[in-house]
Amino acid sequence: METVLSGIRSTGNLHLGNYFGALKNFVKMQHEERCFFFIADYHSLTTHPDPKMLHVNVKNVLAEYLAAGLDPEVATIYVQSDVPEVAELSLLLSMHAYVGELERTTSFKDKIRKQPNNVNIGLLSYPVLMAADILQHRATRVPVGKDQEQHLELTRRFARRFNQLYQVDFFPECQPYTFGGELIKIPGLDGTGKMGKSEGNGIFLTDSDAAIRKKVMKAVTDSGPTAPDSPMPEVIANLFTILKAVSTPDTVAHYTELWNRCEIRYGDLKKQLAEDIIGVIAPIRERIQDIINDEAYLSRVLKQGAEKARESSGATLAEVRRIMGIKPF
Ligand code: TYM
Repeated sequence: METVLSGIRSTGNLHLGNYFGALKNFVKMQHEERCFFFIADYHSLTTHPDPKMLHVNVKNVLAEYLAAGLDPEVATIYVQSDVPEVAELSLLLSMHAYVGELERTTSFKDKIRKQPNNVNIGLLSYPVLMAADILQHRATRVPVGKDQEQHLELTRRFARRFNQLYQVDFFPECQPYTFGGELIKIPGLDGTGKMGKSEGNGIFLTDSDAAIRKKVMKAVTDSGPTAPDSPMPEVIANLFTILKAVSTPDTVAHYTELWNRCEIRYGDLKKQLAEDIIGVIAPIRERIQDIINDEAYLSRVLKQGAEKARESSGATLAEVRRIMGIKPF
């Protein structure tokens, strides 16, 4: 049996990218493997959220996980900060993580650009904490979207380095995972880049049908294909990427054919896309509304999750301490 782990930062409601990048793949695996899914609230502190919002967001994300199909009876669902062992493991791993390699990560360079007045140590050591999240359970598979590929590469590097330095075969090398094989990047509806929580280009699991239709109808397009089989510009390819995620292969083939014949009408494509997105989101949204106010249930899920996660994490940490030479007198 493999150990699978994934997580999402608690910086706001989950969007289609989070769903197709991480949640959906994880939900499919939870019955077969040893599975951990967590809410990365320590990681979200790197952007200094309002303390009141942090708590609300953790609660919302938990309800969204459960509504999307995570089953607390089979998977371990927990909040990162409920497992303090991860902070110590991150500290220990940081002794073998080099400033140069962390400064070169794309996510760090991105953040420097986005928040030049808040380049904190947490941002730099973000991949170390992420490696600790994964290595504390000695996970081998990590369902993530394409944007996390580099972080997983670093996790493998830290694991290898640790094993080599201490001459042990302790940490496994984890692999990113999706069912199709290819890691997915759900684009935003603004024509460029990826869908994100704070980019203003997202469709959220809590969006109403009307909001979804409105957002999709406003998505950026161009003036249309000019010759049969002409190459697809990025803005249109983006709509097709989302279509592939939410629609049937027949629907995708139908619109691809229309594109190739220069007969596509973007209005029709968008209407179809909106309805198929609603098909994915509406049932999840309805379950969120059922779950979100059941405080007793949510707190039970997290209590049980924290206990199971700490057991796994504590065992790894004890071994890491021993390997590194931290022993009781
Ligand atoms: P976060 O919160 O940015 O995103 C959570 C998950 O959603 C995926 N994702 C996407 N996938 C496809 N298209 C998109 N537009 C898109 N946007 C987000 C991400 O790839 C990710 O899988 N560092 C992580 C959280 C984390 C974590 C971990 C994940 C912390 N420790 C350990 C796995 C294992 C993050 O910021 O994800």
